[in-house]
Amino acid sequence: MKVRKAVIPAAGLGTRMLPATKTVPKEMLPLVDKPVIQYIIEEAVASGIEDILIVTNRAKSAMDDYFDYYPELETRLNQAGKDKELYAVRRAADLANIFYVRQKETKGLGHAIWRAKRFVGDEPFAVLLGDDIMRSSKPVTLQLVEAAEKYGSSALGVQQVSTEAISKYSSVQIGPLEDRIFSVFDMNEKPAPTEMFSNYAILGRYVLTPGIFEILENLKPGYGGEIQLTDGLRELCRVDRMVAVDFEGRRYDTGNLRGFLEATLDFALEHPETGAWLADYLKHRAAGLER
Ligand code: G1P
Repeated sequence: MKVRKAVIPAAGLGTRMLPATKTVPKEMLPLVDKPVIQYIIEEAVASGIEDILIVTNRAKSAMDDYFDYYPELETRLNQAGKDKELYAVRRAADLANIFYVRQKETKGLGHAIWRAKRFVGDEPFAVLLGDDIMRSSKPVTLQLVEAAEKYGSSALGVQQVSTEAISKYSSVQIGPLEDRIFSVFDMNEKPAPTEMFSNYAILGRYVLTPGIFEILENLKPGYGGEIQLTDGLRELCRVDRMVAVDFEGRRYDTGNLRGFLEATLDFALEHPETGAWLADYLKHRAAGLER
């Protein structure tokens, strides 16, 4: 079993980041010097993925423009000898084979993934949620791909969250398998603390077997009146093997302001052009000193 394809659902309305996301897709907001979606694509590519489908909607065409060539701009940069900028602009367009499909109605994450059925065909595939940016030494998707390939199964990226936070995620019922890898028996979407299976939450990364599509096709709306991927996975884990990987790395939810700002600060502190300057700026600021 080889995972060569990935699906990135990016058809949400961005209601947690308004008014910035009224006309700019949230996936296109810059994290330091690149849009959020580029980090996701880079993680997929670093995990061995060759073909990527982005599920978009009618307000997201800035995304496909971004991953296209831009001859006028490139000629101008070339003439001006701006090689670094030219390389950065071209690189974004050459990252991967990117395909698009629209989710014509906003009916939930499960429905968005179902739109990938024709693209995926009959092979396992990765899912990377557009809001969740990971910082890790080994790409999180690769950690999942390795587990899925080893067990010939689906794999979910999980980490422990606090009992107060679990109602923002899905909670999984698991049993031990090996270090950081568990068998999955059940799950529920956005449970109240009294209904949760465990403190392990699914955090934005999945490797799924194609059996998920038949399940999603017949799924009734769940939490929030939407077709929930979690409800589909709940059925999938009953008929097919599924593992959960307690992945190594830090996850940022860039779909809300705090997560977005944390990611911005951490990434800027690590960036070769801004890191030392920003650390110095923050130090002076904290000490109330003039610079
Ligand atoms: C989605 C999923 C949920 C998952 C979460 C974090 O929720 O439905 O199961 O735990 O992402 O990856 P959302 O953040 O879209 O409400």
